[in-house]
Amino acid sequence: MSSSSSNRILHPAFAQRVMSGEEAAALIQPGSQIGMSGFTGSGYPKAVPMALAKRAAAAHERGEKFKVNVFTGASTGPELDGKLADANAVGLRLPYQSDSSTRKHINTGDIQYIDIHLSQVAQLVEYGFLGKLDVALIEVTAILEDGRVIPSTSVGNNQTWINCADKVILEVNSTQPLELEGLHDIYHNLVNPPNRQPIELTSVSQRIGDPYLRIPPEKVIAVVNTDAPDRSSAFKAPDENSKKIAGHIMEFLSWEVKKGRLPESLLPLQSGVGNIANAVLYGLQDGPFENLTAYTEVIQDGLISLMRSGKMVSASATSFSLSPQCVSELMPQIGDYRERIVLRAQEISNHPGIIRRLGVIAMNGMIEADIYGNVNSTHIMGSSMMNGIGGSGDFARNGFLSIFMAPSTAKDGTISTIVPMVSHVDHTEHDVSVVVTDQGLADLRGLSPNQRAKLVIENCSHPDYRGLLLDYYNRSLSQAKGKHTPHILTESLSWHSRFLSTGQMLPKE
Ligand code: COA
Repeated sequence: MSSSSSNRILHPAFAQRVMSGEEAAALIQPGSQIGMSGFTGSGYPKAVPMALAKRAAAAHERGEKFKVNVFTGASTGPELDGKLADANAVGLRLPYQSDSSTRKHINTGDIQYIDIHLSQVAQLVEYGFLGKLDVALIEVTAILEDGRVIPSTSVGNNQTWINCADKVILEVNSTQPLELEGLHDIYHNLVNPPNRQPIELTSVSQRIGDPYLRIPPEKVIAVVNTDAPDRSSAFKAPDENSKKIAGHIMEFLSWEVKKGRLPESLLPLQSGVGNIANAVLYGLQDGPFENLTAYTEVIQDGLISLMRSGKMVSASATSFSLSPQCVSELMPQIGDYRERIVLRAQEISNHPGIIRRLGVIAMNGMIEADIYGNVNSTHIMGSSMMNGIGGSGDFARNGFLSIFMAPSTAKDGTISTIVPMVSHVDHTEHDVSVVVTDQGLADLRGLSPNQRAKLVIENCSHPDYRGLLLDYYNRSLSQAKGKHTPHILTESLSWHSRFLSTGQMLPKE
């Protein structure tokens, strides 16, 4: 398709189904399970979710019930998660989300939320564990004459939703560059056990599928033209703490190279979502490593800047997650990156077997870690959901190295991110190789729980909390019956309950 083409729906069977977002939304029944595209704010449908939210709001005004279950790749944008949550139109939501209105409704109990490892979402639907998928609602870039479909700025679970749903609704977004054609690699050979075969992917930039989504025209009930851009948000400029964290990680990786445990070009990097992860990528920019690669989930600004400078040679992911400025600079030239960037389904970008085979270095943000190295990535004070586990578990458990990072305190120092016991566990001590904060880095490999505790407290905790943590650990060691992972159970979560009742983890003088 030529880049100047204004008509992006070239196959007649698809062209016959063109209608407005409102007309398409009217074809969705209340109570439906909808598999939507969208991953970290990229490639999500906009017009139909907004029309669906309006429909739900109108139904609620008439006293009727109107909710749908929404499955996506990961987080979307305000036109999807925000509008549907505001209209109280979501019954069940999965997996990762990061929308403030959705978060609020999850935490008031209005939305049932299931937090799932991102590599597993598609297979849970394919296995029938999550019930029937009624509709697939997918944003795409264009539909070619022969019916092949160019995906948008994320792949996520799109091909699975199309395969499993009874009906398909497409949004063809004219703001997504036609030069995206050829960037994607859609693998069509994943069948369910017992017939699943090995996935023959052995290097970051290898292609094992083809660049197009396969959509049976007879399933398509609506095609909607849209022109709204992905609503991406800008990253915070790296602050002092992020720079310190990045510095500790650079020093650690250099040491690993010196010891001969990592090659000079490192191993494929995975970098999680959030400001700190993005700051670490910027840290690599000034680091000594060359010919870097990434086998990751999202391509963020920091990663693009590594590619631009030539420090990174290739990257595989399932989506872009770029600031508006980076989008406007990158997208007009995206065709130039076709040999160096591959977007795959999240089942493949986050595949445990491939992550282990390639030896990925996983670097993810955390909410808190405890003195033994258990990590909480998702919950605030034990019961409120922040975003979700995302792909952090896929990479942490299977990576060559699993690094978790956070500033040593949160909320103006009222919270210590190193605590006696985490208030929720996403990554157990068994899946965590390194904990790093602005204070320093604890390399936990090969250490017993008692050895870990001393190192985490000494190297990672903030000085305001270090004495209290040491005191807790020493008293646990003398009082606990079991000396393997000593705890005082009546006290281990007292820091969290103190924060909930007084607004700070430190005891009041
Ligand atoms: N208690 C309460 N709030 C905390 C906290 C704690 N222990 N630690 C952090 N926070 C708050 C911060 O204050 C901040 O709040 P604000 O948005 O109101 O300013 C917010 O959480 C984000 O923290 P920040 O320090 O800016 O970190 P981040 O942007 O790097 O995000 C996570 C950190 C953990 C929330 C994020 O990495 C995440 O969602 N991770 C889980 C999913 C994942 O790892 N995906 C990657 C797989 S590829």
